[in-house]
Amino acid sequence: MNTVLPGVLPDLLQTIEHCGPDEGLNILLQRFPGALTFSTSFSYEDQVITHFVADKPVTIFTLDTGRLFSEVYTTWSATREWIGRDIEAYYPDAEILKEFVSAEGPDAFYRSVENRKKCCHIRKVVPLQKALQNKSVWITGLRAEHSPDRGNLTVLEWDAANHIIKYHPLLHWDTGQVKEYIRKHHIPYNILHDRGYVSIGCAPCTRPVKEGENFRAGRWWWEDSSRKECGLHAR
Ligand code: ADX
Ligand code: SF4
Repeated sequence: MNTVLPGVLPDLLQTIEHCGPDEGLNILLQRFPGALTFSTSFSYEDQVITHFVADKPVTIFTLDTGRLFSEVYTTWSATREWIGRDIEAYYPDAEILKEFVSAEGPDAFYRSVENRKKCCHIRKVVPLQKALQNKSVWITGLRAEHSPDRGNLTVLEWDAANHIIKYHPLLHWDTGQVKEYIRKHHIPYNILHDRGYVSIGCAPCTRPVKEGENFRAGRWWWEDSSRKECGLHAR
């Protein structure tokens, strides 16, 4: 276990708090060479970050839950072609998933919060733990605009559950900036963003949002809004 990591955070945060993504990434790469990894769900913001990390020695990975929209796989393929690099894919443990789906059925998440959390744990959280092994910095596309909870984050934070530093390079970008960046750099993106989908997760757990609804209203919409995290970003 690396006990140095949480200790370096305050100084590091002061150094990169006001840096743009490119500068922030370069500082972290100097400090933790070979130990940066970026998780992409191929969302709008993740595509912007991919543009920043594509030519840097940063691993890029995705968690394939097995329940993603077909449009996500299309974006994944387009992204591979665009950056000319491998994107590591992580999967749930086949035996544990078999037991869960056999016992509870394929759409158990609609029946209870407990089932939903179990499904997210098997399909996302455990594969994430594998992806973060031997890394010091986990780069994400979290933005303050997403939710009040995310609005309280700082660009660097300590993830005690995974014992890793998290870096959110676009934390203070607004949606307009993200869209403009995508447009300006001709970056491939998930076409569902043009069809009312804002925050995009697994297909059975995501719906488009209506005018005036909040950013994450389309995620697990049948649940109490205070519970809308899948465990990837537990704090
Ligand atoms: S979630 O916790 O509600 O599912 P959200 O969809 O907002 O997360 O995405 C926030 C960030 O989590 C993304 O920018 C990305 O870094 C990471 N993330 C979410 N889903 C995945 C996934 N399937 N694969 C890899 N990273 C993901
Ligand atoms: Fe399962 Fe839905 Fe969570 Fe995806 S978002 S892992 S389908 S409960």
